[in-house]
Amino acid sequence: MRTLKNILVTGGCGFIGVNFIRRLFKHTPEFTGRIINLDALTYAGNITSLQEIEKEFGIDSKPESRYFFELGDICDRQGLETIFAKYNIDTVVNFAAESHVDRSILGPETFVKTNVMGTFALLDVARRRWQISTGDPTQPLPVSADAEYTPGVIFHHVSTDEVYGSLGESGFFTETSPYEPRSPYSASKAASDHLVMAWHHTYGLPVTLSNCSNNFGPFQFPEKLIPLMIINMLEGKPLPVYGDGKNIRDWLYVDDHTRAIWTILSKGRTGEKYNIGGENERENIAIIDELIEIVAEKINGEPQKIRGTIQFVKDRPGHDRRYAIDCAKIKEELGWQRETPFEEGLAKTVEWYMANTTWINRIRSGEYRYWVEENYGRR
Ligand code: NAD
Ligand code: DAU
Repeated sequence: MRTLKNILVTGGCGFIGVNFIRRLFKHTPEFTGRIINLDALTYAGNITSLQEIEKEFGIDSKPESRYFFELGDICDRQGLETIFAKYNIDTVVNFAAESHVDRSILGPETFVKTNVMGTFALLDVARRRWQISTGDPTQPLPVSADAEYTPGVIFHHVSTDEVYGSLGESGFFTETSPYEPRSPYSASKAASDHLVMAWHHTYGLPVTLSNCSNNFGPFQFPEKLIPLMIINMLEGKPLPVYGDGKNIRDWLYVDDHTRAIWTILSKGRTGEKYNIGGENERENIAIIDELIEIVAEKINGEPQKIRGTIQFVKDRPGHDRRYAIDCAKIKEELGWQRETPFEEGLAKTVEWYMANTTWINRIRSGEYRYWVEENYGRR
C-alpha cells in the first residue's frame, strides 16, 4: 500500500474531481495527507462545489490545513514547477481535461491544448521534480528507463473508454484493445494516454492509467446526457435525443469510479493500465425512459406526459455506436468492484439535482463564476 502525502489533483473543480476530493476527505479514513487542487476554472470548473470541503479542511493560512486551491493551467510549466516545490507533491491525479465530445467537434483546439499539451507539461515537470539525478542539476536529466525516482511517487492519469473507438453489437474493450479514437475529444485523450505510457517506458516514471466508461452522479455539469435530461424533465423542456437513441454506453455511478482511482493509487502496479466500467450497458433511450419513471414518481407526474417531450434530433457527427468495458483486471488484481446498482445511482442522482436547485441556478445565471471574477477579474 502506498502512503500518499501531498496529492496534486488537477481539474478538481470538475464533476469527477469534486467527487474524488470529497471521497478522500469524507470517506477515506486511511487518507491523512493533503490535497492541492489545481484548476483553471473553465466553464466546467465550479469552485462552489467544494465550499464545504474548503471550510472544513482548507483554512489556507493554518499549518493544519489539508486542502489547498491553486488557480492555474496544467499547460503552464512554470506554474507547475512552483506548485510541486511549494507543496512537495508526491502524487498526481490528472483529471484536468476538456471532456465534452460535442464541444470537441465544434472547437477542437482547446482539447489538443489541455488534453495533450497539458498532460505533456505535467509529465515532464513530474519527471523533473521526482527523478533522482546524480549529475549536474543545470544539465538535462539523464535519460533511462531504469531511472531512479523518489520512493513512493506516483502519477495517475484519468482517461476514458472512448480511446478504444466504437464496438459492434458484441465484444468488450479490454486493456489490450487497440486504440481507435474517432472524435477530437477521444483522439486528444488517446494522445495523452500514449504520452503517459511513453514517460513510463522511456524515462521510467512511475505511472498508472485508468480508462473509465460513462460516469453519472452529483455535480455533473448539465450539458451531459443524464443531468441535462433530469433538469429538462423537471422544467418541462424538450428532451433532445441524438439519432435513433439506440447508441449504447456503459454507465457507472461516480462514487464507484472515484473508489477505483483510490484503489489504483494505493496498490495499482506502476506501468499498468486498468479499465473501469459498470458492466451496465444501456441504450440512451432506455436511460431516458428509466429517468422519466423516476422523475414522474418523485414529482407526482404522468410518465406519458414527460415521454411526449422527447425530440429525436440530428445525430452527433461520427457518433460512436457502442461502448462496453471488460473490467476483469481491476476486479481480479486489485479487488475493486462496482457497488452502486444502476437504478439506485440513477434515483440518487435525480434526488441530488432536485435538492440542489441553487447549484443549478448558479450555473444558469453565471453566478458560479463570480468567485473567479471577484478574485481574478473577468476571464
Ligand atoms: P469536467 O469537464 O467536469 O471537469 C474538467 C475540469 O478540468 C474542470 O474543473 C476544468 O476547469 C478543469 N480544466 C480544464 N482545462 C484545464 C486546464 N488547462 N488546466 C487546469 N484545469 C483545467 O470533466 P469530468 O467529467 O470531471 O472528467 C474528468 C476526467 O475524467 C477527464 O480527464 C475525462 O476525460 C475523464 N473521464 C470522464 C468521464 C465522464 O463520464 N465524465 C468518463 C471517463 C473519463
Ligand atoms: O465514455 C466515457 C465518456 O463519457 C467520457 O470520456 C466523456 O468525458 C463524457 O462526456 C462521456 O461522453 P459521451 O459523449 O458518451 O457523454 P454524453 O453525456 O455527452 O452523451 C451520452 C450519450 O447520449 C451519447 O450517445 C450522446 C447522447 N446524447 C447526449 C446529449 C448531451 C443525446 O442523445 N442527447 C444529448 O442531449
